Amino acid sequence: MEIKDILEKTRVSLAPMAGITDYVLRSLIREQSKTCIITTEMISSEALHQVKNTSIIKRDENQSPIFYQLSGHKPQMIAECAKYLEPMADVIDINMGCPVNKVVKGQDGSALMRNPSLAYDIVQAIKDSINIPVSVKFRLGYTQQEMNYVSYGQKMQEAGAEFITIHARTRNQMYAGKADWSKIKELKRNVDVPVFANGDIISIDSAIQCLEESGADGVAIGRGALGDTTLLARIEHYLNTGEKIPAPTLEEKVKVLTSHLDREMELRGEEVGLKFMRKFYPFYVSGVKNAAKYRSQLVLIDNYKEVMEALKYIIKKDEEYRNEKDVVCLIN
Ligand SMILES: Cc1cc2nc3c(=O)[nH]c(=O)nc-3n(C[C@H](O)[C@H](O)[C@H](O)COP(=O)(O)O)c2cc1C
Repeated sequence: MEIKDILEKTRVSLAPMAGITDYVLRSLIREQSKTCIITTEMISSEALHQVKNTSIIKRDENQSPIFYQLSGHKPQMIAECAKYLEPMADVIDINMGCPVNKVVKGQDGSALMRNPSLAYDIVQAIKDSINIPVSVKFRLGYTQQEMNYVSYGQKMQEAGAEFITIHARTRNQMYAGKADWSKIKELKRNVDVPVFANGDIISIDSAIQCLEESGADGVAIGRGALGDTTLLARIEHYLNTGEKIPAPTLEEKVKVLTSHLDREMELRGEEVGLKFMRKFYPFYVSGVKNAAKYRSQLVLIDNYKEVMEALKYIIKKDEEYRNEKDVVCLIN
């Protein structure tokens, strides 16, 4: 599958998130959108080189178009991993943006932005070993003083990268402050490959604003998809039709949460699945009255039945609260 074939159908992608965009979450998002790009979690080339049969690479036939993201800094090793993943991937994506200390100390992730010639060698080595497209995901630069994203993007394109996702922050910003979408315009002007803008896109409106400010070809959504597996599909629908489908109700979100939990338990076993899901609860119940209280209660539960009861209670309380609000509105 060529990049242009993928982009004929979509301008939206699921950004990779380690420990988050696993097989189950990708499947839930794919059920909402048949066309959006989905990306695996970052797969360490060092780890994959040692253990091939890992659940992190699991997919099914419905997951296309899918990018498999590799991290690492050894061109030959990453190229071998890319070759191994080629039969299951539509595109191989290289992580050049992870800001985490442990990762950058190992010369992986955004450390590559300080070493463009090594990044070049990585892309080229992968290109030489596979016949599917290579994409890269990076940030604006390492620090505010080292915003080399334009020349870096050009170099990656020269090495053979056919697609860019750019998170509009520097490495030193980590996840703080606001993503600066306007900077992406400069990259767009200076490369020929498609560029997807990333960072802080959490709604249809922010996707529209980001596309206007960045001039990007599409948007990559990370945290915005947490607790709302419909967001990518809703943005795609807006871009195709101009119609804004409302965000899901609490009840709809809890239905997805339940399916998410069931499938994680099936994938990982009941105990691990229940613990794994704890990080997702806050997102599914965000926005309801007393959300903070519910979140802190939900993350302590280690029993499926109790999670279900807690969720029922949250829905009931939310309904009561909304009915009360309606009465107040009518009286006033
Ligand atoms: C928990 C978490 C894990 C992440 N893991 C990865 C990763 O494995 N690879 C990667 O390129 N970016 C990773 N990111 C960065 C996201 O892909 C994205 O660039 C960033 O969150 C900004 O986009 P957003 O505001 O839409 O979330 C991660 C982000 C979060 C919050």
